[in-house]
Amino acid sequence: MAIPMMEVINVDKSFGSGEKQVKVLSQATFHVKKGEIVTLFGKSGCGKSTLLNILGGFEKADKGSIRHNGEPVLKPTKTCVMLFQQINLLPWRSVLKNVELGLEGEKLKPKEKWARVMDALKLVGLENSLDKFPHELSGGMQQRVAIARALAIQPDVILMDEPFAALDSFNRYNLQQELLRIQKKKNTTIVLVTHDIDEAVYLSDRVIIMSSHPGRIQKEITITQMKPRSRTHADFQYFRRKILDEFQLSTELIAPEYNI
Ligand SMILES: Nc1ncnc2c1ncn2[C@@H]1O[C@H](COP(=O)(O)OP(=O)(O)O)[C@@H](O)[C@H]1O
Ligand SMILES: [Mg+2]
Repeated sequence: MAIPMMEVINVDKSFGSGEKQVKVLSQATFHVKKGEIVTLFGKSGCGKSTLLNILGGFEKADKGSIRHNGEPVLKPTKTCVMLFQQINLLPWRSVLKNVELGLEGEKLKPKEKWARVMDALKLVGLENSLDKFPHELSGGMQQRVAIARALAIQPDVILMDEPFAALDSFNRYNLQQELLRIQKKKNTTIVLVTHDIDEAVYLSDRVIIMSSHPGRIQKEITITQMKPRSRTHADFQYFRRKILDEFQLSTELIAPEYNI
């Protein structure tokens, strides 16, 4: 069997010490294959961001191991890039310069650098906004710049922590659709954190459901509905309900008329 692109094996993590110590993750185990979109889904505070940070080498696990192409992950690397909910563009740099930022420190010829940056900007549809500054862009466009910056690095894996949570639903739907288009074109591997059930069903090949206190992997659900997915299709509702069932929420949220 091929080695999975990312492996998380029996990861434990606590914060604080002594009486104030809180166990955030317990025995977290999952893997991600090349070209998959895997979502970590669970309630706020269940440890999703912590797990994603450990996956990217930004935090250390107390126990267990993380592997990337079979090699232990000990620190952040450019093969695994994190995209945050807070879009951290530099306000004094243009779109072009913000995307170039991702390539700083890489030994690339100017022509090669330009090609990479333009390729990434074309993928997100911003090739005509090179000279704009972040304050001239909508939230959705700013997040596109951040996506382009991540793509220009050409990482093996992009980690996304609620990347669309700050956007209105129209922009969110739009960018989710765009992300799928880009992902398909480049066969990018994505690990996404969300507490938005529609986002999880729309984007994921597999949804990893986490329980809270401490965060554990409760269940994995494979979303078999063909992509691109219609949000109103019966299959979409089926998977939505299947996930809600894990939180014993399906009756209240889907069929309020059954609540007596
Ligand atoms: N650096 C930290 N120090 C102390 N506690 C933390 C730290 N990071 C996260 N926590 C705690 O760990 C728990 C899980 O947090 P987090 O991983 O951010 O959850 P989620 O992303 O699922 O909302 C929360 O109770 C949070 O307060
Ligand atoms: Mg979080």
